[in-house]
Amino acid sequence: MAKIQIPRGTQDIMPGTVELWQHIEKKMRDLCTRYNYQEIRTPIFEQTELFRRGVGETTDVVEKEMYSVESRGEGDFTLRPEGTAGVVRSYVEKKLYGVPNQPTKLYYLGPMFRHERPQAGRFRQFVQFGVEAIGSADPAIDAEVIAVAMRIYQELGLTGLSVELNSVGTLEDRARHRGALLEVLNSVRDELCEDCQSRIDRNPLRVLDCKNKKCQTLTKDAPSILDYLSDESKKHFEEVQAYLTAINIPFHINPRLVRGLDYYTLTAFEIKMAEIGAVETLCGGGRYNGLVEQIGGEDMPGIGFAMSIERLLMALESQNIQLPIETGLDAYIVLQSETAKTKAFQLLDSLRAKGVKAEMDYLGRKMKAQLKAADRVEAKYAAIIGESELQKGVVMLKELATGEQQEVSFAEVSDWLLAKR
Ligand code: HAM
Repeated sequence: MAKIQIPRGTQDIMPGTVELWQHIEKKMRDLCTRYNYQEIRTPIFEQTELFRRGVGETTDVVEKEMYSVESRGEGDFTLRPEGTAGVVRSYVEKKLYGVPNQPTKLYYLGPMFRHERPQAGRFRQFVQFGVEAIGSADPAIDAEVIAVAMRIYQELGLTGLSVELNSVGTLEDRARHRGALLEVLNSVRDELCEDCQSRIDRNPLRVLDCKNKKCQTLTKDAPSILDYLSDESKKHFEEVQAYLTAINIPFHINPRLVRGLDYYTLTAFEIKMAEIGAVETLCGGGRYNGLVEQIGGEDMPGIGFAMSIERLLMALESQNIQLPIETGLDAYIVLQSETAKTKAFQLLDSLRAKGVKAEMDYLGRKMKAQLKAADRVEAKYAAIIGESELQKGVVMLKELATGEQQEVSFAEVSDWLLAKR
């Protein structure tokens, strides 16, 4: 029989590593509280139509990467490839535009699924943290959203990140730009890569974002979208830059930055780091002023970003950043004889009830092996219980690092251990 294995492009996150995830997730949640974003949890699968309409028919995500199933005659469903579409669906369905607190500021943290070719930093199941601010067109909130992402990286200790910023304009701006762009693209059409050739007809702006060096050279004189922005779009872009400058977030304007999902309007950004190699984008986001309407709601502006924890961990590793992870226990109960077992078990339970991190042996090991086990779980103290301790109602606390010993009564041991933290 064939061996059963983990699916390609997925990971088991094991003890020893999961603590890093928990640390990062906590940082994200804490930061969202500070910036006044509330958590939303939407389903991991949605109607396929949501992504077709939201993310866009001609995107790689929808064309090639969705995990979809026809569900027993109830329609087509897809494992979410990203979070924005689901959040906006919920915003419309739960009428969040009607609640008194506006704009609606939400965050999410959870697995996303894309059928991509697995490689470093590119998984088929990955965890995205993202925020969405819906209901405000204020350029200050564009800068706030970028600030949330940068602050996470900064507080985790990453350096050398750059914010790439662009405006992809409104649909009207893009329509004006399109003619001039197509003129250049059509003149080099046959020399472009296959992907770009098909993009020309469907979403020509995407050609500018091709990673292929030859395509980049061929299109270097293509007209910039920034030259086709309306006065209003231009003003929005300038104000976003001014707010970023005001809070000391450096950025590079990259007129070729075009995101891979179709819903973007005006502000588009990515956060990159030079060192992590092939996949250097840590985070991406932007405005999506037409999306709420596209999904069946009123015309409401929105902006957000998402980043994966997988890429964040790669970045931390490449900069040799050690996160402050707490390990170890306060105490490990060591039994001198089986007769003390019930008493020890009671003590263990009462220690834990009072907040002490404690463990005991469940493998019937000899005392020496129990002490070794205490070392292995990084216990600070061995709480030794033998006949004489039982009679006196005390435990012998032995500090494992120094060997120093001290008797403490059963009643006082939890407070004593907590005081030694
Ligand atoms: P995205 O650029 O497709 O945008 O993905 C955002 C981030 O998710 C990437 O920068 C990367 O950190 C991570 N990511 C994407 N694909 C993978 C993968 N296969 N493996 C590991 N990490 C990955 C979005 O998803 C938009 N929903 C972002 C957004 C929110 N825009 C507005 N609001």
